[in-house]
Amino acid sequence: MARIIGGLTTSHIPSIGNAVPREEELSQDPYWQPFFAGYGKAREWLREADPDVAIVIYNDHGLNFFLDKLPTFAIGAAFEYQHSDEGWGIPTMPPFQGDPELSWHIINSLVADEFDIVSCQEMLVDHGFTVPMSLFWKNNSYGRVRTIPVCINTVQHPLPSPARCFKLGQAIARAVESYDKDLKVVILGTGGMSHQLDGERAGFINKKFDLMCMDKIVNEPEALTQLSIHELVRQAGAQGSEFILWLAMRGALSGNVKMVHSNYHIAISNTATGLMVLENGA
Ligand code: DHB
Ligand code: FE
Repeated sequence: MARIIGGLTTSHIPSIGNAVPREEELSQDPYWQPFFAGYGKAREWLREADPDVAIVIYNDHGLNFFLDKLPTFAIGAAFEYQHSDEGWGIPTMPPFQGDPELSWHIINSLVADEFDIVSCQEMLVDHGFTVPMSLFWKNNSYGRVRTIPVCINTVQHPLPSPARCFKLGQAIARAVESYDKDLKVVILGTGGMSHQLDGERAGFINKKFDLMCMDKIVNEPEALTQLSIHELVRQAGAQGSEFILWLAMRGALSGNVKMVHSNYHIAISNTATGLMVLENGA
């Protein structure tokens, strides 16, 4: 049977996409050093774990979906996902391998489980997907890993609640665990932590709230699912609402997770960056 062996979270700021190809050169740079320093342990864990599949929970930022047609939940079911630039000038990454058979299994299972998601047989992926892949698989070494993009709307209100996203994660776990192939699956939650890119509170960051979220998501995620979207936006900033993607990831793990590694750093661009590696227990 397929097994979810762990969950990883990371921020997905576009400027990281430009910095990643220059990581060696920037490793002495005081701006980038504390950020990149966090990723060694995560890469090491992934090398050891050697997953077959990465389910990537992220938000599309106007590349694949725009304000005219914006699904709350959408899942890729393609053989391959091309990266394309939605306006940040990030170097384009090699395509990502899909796993349509597993995608359709998850889609069937989710719809049977009352999640009426959009299925996408063609899908472009933006920085919300590609930046985490480039951080976790150094030098774009993700070729062996098949990917399943799961998009959650964090762009146009109404956004799904933290509780709903957590339940989506639980439903994804039920789907994976009922898949009749011996696969090791990791689940990524991208985006966050606190940030607001526009309006009166542009530049807003809330370290106390972020650290509380990183603490509670390990063993008390249900406490975070009590938050309303509006409270989340108030505490984490308008784009900090991306934390619902982390909660969807956490919903797919068991009650028994081990925190292997975490890193928190203020700031890259306008965003407090957070990284976590959670190993999934039985
Ligand atoms: C930034 C952060 C994001 O999450 C994003 O999607 C775009 C930009 C930033 O801090 O620059
Ligand atoms: Fe974002």
